[in-house]
This record gives sequence, structure tokens and C-alpha cells, in this order.
Amino acid sequence: MPTDVPSEITFDLASEAETQRLGRALGEAAQPGLVVALVGNLGAGKTRFVQAAAEGLDIPREAVNSPTFVLIHEYEGRLPVYHFDTYRLGDIDEFLELGADEYMSGDGVCFIEWADRMEEVLPRDRLNITFEITGELTRRLTLAAGGRVSQSVLEVLQNGHGSD
Ligand SMILES: Nc1ncnc2c1ncn2[C@@H]1O[C@H](COP(=O)(O)OP(=O)(O)OP(=O)(O)O)[C@@H](O)[C@H]1O
Ligand SMILES: [Mg+2]
Repeated sequence: MPTDVPSEITFDLASEAETQRLGRALGEAAQPGLVVALVGNLGAGKTRFVQAAAEGLDIPREAVNSPTFVLIHEYEGRLPVYHFDTYRLGDIDEFLELGADEYMSGDGVCFIEWADRMEEVLPRDRLNITFEITGELTRRLTLAAGGRVSQSVLEVLQNGHGSD
């Protein structure tokens, strides 16, 4: 068993296609119970990334939209997928009223956009992905794992998806 996996990895992505490739790899590596917390500005690529991850989970891309007006989307792929956009939620209570705790402690995969707004109720074992806009077509993604499930997904991404 490898023991030298860092709990944080940075990817410099030169194009939208590279973001999609990483997202798809994450979807392929996803395990039951994975929580992915996406943090970054408007237009940083959070939804694009989730669409690609859904593809990696065998969900057709067309099925996945930005959930700006619907607060949670559910998809049935290789695993159940729950996609939240917390941008329009007033507060943490509204997030919890959607059943967030049950979803996050279940056997599906949760993707949470604007997760920094809900940080205090997110599980420790989550994969944080921070998006930075470094240019019109370039993005820097920093992936950080906080526990066993997220760590093992990060490990697959590190081995299978070098940023260079
Ligand atoms: N390398 C890249 N990775 C991802 N998206 C990119 C990249 N380069 C350009 N883009 C563009 O950036 C935009 C990202 O939009 P997206 O809806 O994914 O952002 P978002 O982070 O979900 O924003 P919001 O907070 O409004 O939901 C798209 O228009 C996409 O074409
Ligand atoms: Mg979005």
C-alpha cells in the first residue's frame, strides 16, 4: 500500500478539455460515499467539472445542467449522484433542509458547488477542489483530501492523471 500520497495535489489545466479529462478521471475513480466540495468564483469551471465527472460515472453529459435554479439534481449512474448548488441558498439551515446530511452520509457521490458557504456542516472526509482562473482558458485546481474515501480517490488521480 502506498503511504506517500500527499493529501493535496495541484493541477494546472491548459484548456477546458483538460478540465474535462480530470473531471472524467475523478468520476471513474469515485467511490460510494465520496463528497466533492467545489470552491471557486463564477465561471471558474465547477459545473463543467461536475458534468465531466458525471460522464465518468456513466451519466450522459446532456443530463447534467447547472443546478442554479434547481437546488439539487439527482442522477443515476454507476453510483447515485447528487449535485447541489448552494449559491442560491440563504443559509446552512436551507442546505440541511434539502436533506444534505443524509445525502452526504449515504452511498452515493455528492458534488457541492460553492461548498465554502456550507463548510461547517460538510464531512471531514471530503475532496475539496479549489478552482482558480489563471487565464481565459486556463485553470488551477487544487485537490485536497480530508479522510479515507477522498484520499483513496485522490491517490488514483495522482497515479493516473499527472498534470505535466
Ligand atoms: N480550462 C477550463 N476549465 C473549465 N472551464 C473553462 C476552461 N476554460 C474556459 N472555461 C469556460 O469557463 C466557463 C465555466 O463555467 P461553469 O458553469 O463550469 O462555471 P461555474 O464555476 O460552475 O460557475 P457558477 O459559479 O456560475 O456556477 C465555461 O464557459 C467554460 O467554457
Ligand atoms: Mg456552476
